[in-house]
Amino acid sequence: MKIILYLKFFFRILRYLLGSTKRYCFLLISIYKIKPKSIIEIGVYNGNRAVELIETAKIFNKDVKYYGFDLFEDFYNTKNMIDKELSKFPHTKQNIKKKLNKYKNINLFKGNTVNTLPKFITKHKNIDFVFIDGGHSVATIKNDWSSIKKIISKKSVVIFDDYYEIKKNILNKYGCNKIINSLNTKVYKYKKFFIGDVFYDNYLNSKKKIYMVSVKKI
Ligand SMILES: C[S@@+](CC[C@H](N)C(=O)[O-])C[C@H]1O[C@@H](n2cnc3c(N)ncnc32)[C@H](O)[C@@H]1O
Repeated sequence: MKIILYLKFFFRILRYLLGSTKRYCFLLISIYKIKPKSIIEIGVYNGNRAVELIETAKIFNKDVKYYGFDLFEDFYNTKNMIDKELSKFPHTKQNIKKKLNKYKNINLFKGNTVNTLPKFITKHKNIDFVFIDGGHSVATIKNDWSSIKKIISKKSVVIFDDYYEIKKNILNKYGCNKIINSLNTKVYKYKKFFIGDVFYDNYLNSKKKIYMVSVKKI
């Protein structure tokens, strides 16, 4: 069983390195290094990443707790969500539940993280690994981080997606640059993965390069 998980891990790394989303290597390598027992993913989307995160963590721990946050079908009830969050069109919670059904300890939270995360942090702490990849507006990422930073320890790692190289005016509205660049470096250290992925963003009508950044408490 473990050998299959190892093989999947190596093939996934290889696939990412050869593909157009090379930065995801960083995500999987980080989880491989941290060996987390608990994972938060903000922004579940189609659940594919959840599978990869869980299976990589399972190489080291049989019982991995996964907490996934998304608007799920609520996304479609809110006007202009794409414009506000610049995110992808999510699958339903039921659909994701089915997809992750074969794993134990799956917890899915439907709703805007502005509401769901503050509730969650009253009952949970010391989460080992967090992937922040939900809403892409500066306001939402800022809100996500303000909750997440309260439930991490010195052993935890937080990965932010969406550190952009793009026209400066866009960074006031989207991406995690503002949050990362204003971290207190006496409290947190961060590392930007050296490989970024270049895309043409149809909504922004602009080319952008996306990086992942890891953040740790010192
Ligand atoms: C980029 S996708 C996530 C991709 C996924 N992490 C992956 O690696 O495949 C962003 C997701 O965040 C969700 N989302 C956007 N804004 C949100 C918010 N304010 N609260 C909760 N979820 C949000 C969207 O519904 C979408 O599924």
